[in-house]
Amino acid sequence: MARRPSLAAGYFFALPALITTDIAAAAEVLRAGGLVAIPTETVYGLASNALNEAAVAKIFAAKNRPSFDPLILHQSSAARIFAFTTDLPPAAAQLAEHCWPGPLTLVLNKQTVVPDLVSAGLTTVAVRVPQHPVARQLLELLDFPLAAPSANPFGYVSPTTAQHVADQLGDRIDLILDGGPCQIGLESTIVGFPDGVPTVYRKGGLPVETLEQLLGHPLAIRTHSSSQPTAPGMLSRHYSPGVPLDLWTDLKKVNELPPHSAVIGFGLGGTHYRRDAERQLDVYDLSPTGSLEEAAQQLFSVLRQVAKQDYVRAAAVLVPERGLGRAINDRLRRAAAEE
Ligand code: TXA
Ligand code: MG
Repeated sequence: MARRPSLAAGYFFALPALITTDIAAAAEVLRAGGLVAIPTETVYGLASNALNEAAVAKIFAAKNRPSFDPLILHQSSAARIFAFTTDLPPAAAQLAEHCWPGPLTLVLNKQTVVPDLVSAGLTTVAVRVPQHPVARQLLELLDFPLAAPSANPFGYVSPTTAQHVADQLGDRIDLILDGGPCQIGLESTIVGFPDGVPTVYRKGGLPVETLEQLLGHPLAIRTHSSSQPTAPGMLSRHYSPGVPLDLWTDLKKVNELPPHSAVIGFGLGGTHYRRDAERQLDVYDLSPTGSLEEAAQQLFSVLRQVAKQDYVRAAAVLVPERGLGRAINDRLRRAAAEE
């Protein structure tokens, strides 16, 4: 797709706007095998036709993503997405019924029609029905599912606005479909069924407690990194803010921070951002009123803002370890991990 005016040719091509709200235009680019960043309620995804291997390969190239990493298939309904899976465990059917559309991804046995590039050669595939109205309308227009990882370069924080995507991947994709800021702000919760046992692979936008209430029992949680992670969200170092990050349980050590540091807090009252002139610190509050929903929504934007400044150090106070707080703390721990 020509995007730059060609002066040498003596005339201008129109410069298509990279960021658009035109859902039909996005569908057209996807049908032609292009790459479109799409809004979802969790984070923005980098989407292409999941059944077209050449289109899927563009995702890996744009993200700089190791190709062993499997992608999530997105569709507009459970019925449409289950057409690509087999052997549905009863617990998966139950979770799908209660949680879709929404921030839940299920890892299920795949049908052979799903390209190996999407599933990274695994016999399973991750599937999700997003809730965002723009994503749903787009999927309704298409006769294929969309493969989409989060629309960030590998290892970086996931984007929660169209502008975040433009900043990091703008020169590598055909179109960014703008659906406003993501309402949830954390990636989906991923549940797999190894040996039929519901197991959380990634804590995310749907609290584990909600899933446990639905299923009526505690869930196995297997989110830790290994040399062969099944989910890169499982890599211990991910979501890097580009500056050494300390994790605290309270603010007692604030006086030990060197000047030109950042503090990420929660429930401090007052404003979302303030400058502590005396200590020469910038203080970012994920939610001054102490709302975990708001903190989830703000987290990746704040990590991005911190990464943009030239701070010497940063420290984050862990949030309460319940509900969305578990996923927020998981992301903070990975952002703080040294390797
Ligand atoms: O909220 C979300 O899930 C967003 C939006 C765009 O839907 N997507 C997202 O995709 O976060 P991504 O690629 O950044 O993370 C998907 C995770 C990866 O960690 C991947 O390894 C895991 O899902 N995954 C995919 N297929 C899998 C499989 N068959 N078994 C285990 N993990 C799988
Ligand atoms: Mg990701």
